[in-house]
Amino acid sequence: MDRPELLLEVSELHTYYDDSYVLQGLSLQIQRGQVVAILGRNGMGKTTLIRSIFGLTPARSGSIRFVGEQIEAYQPFEIAQRGMSLVPQGRRIFKNLSVKENLLLPTSALARGIKKPLSDSHPAKQYWNIETVLDEFPQLRERLKNGGNELSGGEQQMLAIGRALISNPDLILMDEPSEGLSPRFVLQVGEIIKRMRDLKHSILLVEQNLALALSVADYVYIISSGKFVFSGTPEELSTQNEILNEHLGVSGSKEISHIH
Ligand SMILES: Nc1ncnc2c1ncn2[C@@H]1O[C@H](COP(=O)(O)OP(=O)(O)OP(=O)(O)O)[C@@H](O)[C@H]1O
Ligand SMILES: [Mg+2]
Repeated sequence: MDRPELLLEVSELHTYYDDSYVLQGLSLQIQRGQVVAILGRNGMGKTTLIRSIFGLTPARSGSIRFVGEQIEAYQPFEIAQRGMSLVPQGRRIFKNLSVKENLLLPTSALARGIKKPLSDSHPAKQYWNIETVLDEFPQLRERLKNGGNELSGGEQQMLAIGRALISNPDLILMDEPSEGLSPRFVLQVGEIIKRMRDLKHSILLVEQNLALALSVADYVYIISSGKFVFSGTPEELSTQNEILNEHLGVSGSKEISHIH
């Protein structure tokens, strides 16, 4: 067994949009190599949490420690340089650039020397570059010269994930990667995340698809009105009928009994 390494430690985050008090004291931890899922209904603060961690909507108070460094006062580009990648809600690929141009954007930042090189201690088993990403997502290879606007939702999601991988981040933040996808692509997103987990990548996954999240997560937090109301393993959550019902709209544990 590898020694556990605390990769991300979020403590007591309080985040506002002007007067609107959204994140009300959130704390969470991610060990290196873990997939940690954040679940919760619409508008509960999942994206705001991701935005606060990545420096897009800085918290008004609280601390964020990433790979041993305090990052809560950093700009998003500084956080990206330190090894965090974001796959944003709604994918946000560049629709007027080709698939290849989208994929090469992060590496052009690398070439300019503003992203630190992969550390020796990085335990991920796969080193990502355009070739290995295209091997992983053969559908993208077929679409290399197509514009981002010519891709299906599922292909856009693969491109967004491929673009995040290519900077070889220590931690990938994924905000509802299965949202709006056909069932076939939802399954594929689940397979991709499982494969990333097997390759020892660390992922913070926001999802509303409970079955998907529980099938890939090592640990789960449920957020309600900016506070965590549950944290535990998927197995522990599967016995919490009241929490499942109240916060996720699941009528009983039988809906998730096939998982794991
Ligand atoms: N830019 C903003 N300005 C003001 N309020 C905002 C802003 N973005 C989000 N909010 C509010 O903050 C709260 C949390 O929103 P957030 O987007 O974090 O929720 P979410 O859990 O990601 O929801 P969803 O599942 O729909 O993506 C909501 O009440 C939302 O209306
Ligand atoms: Mg959201």
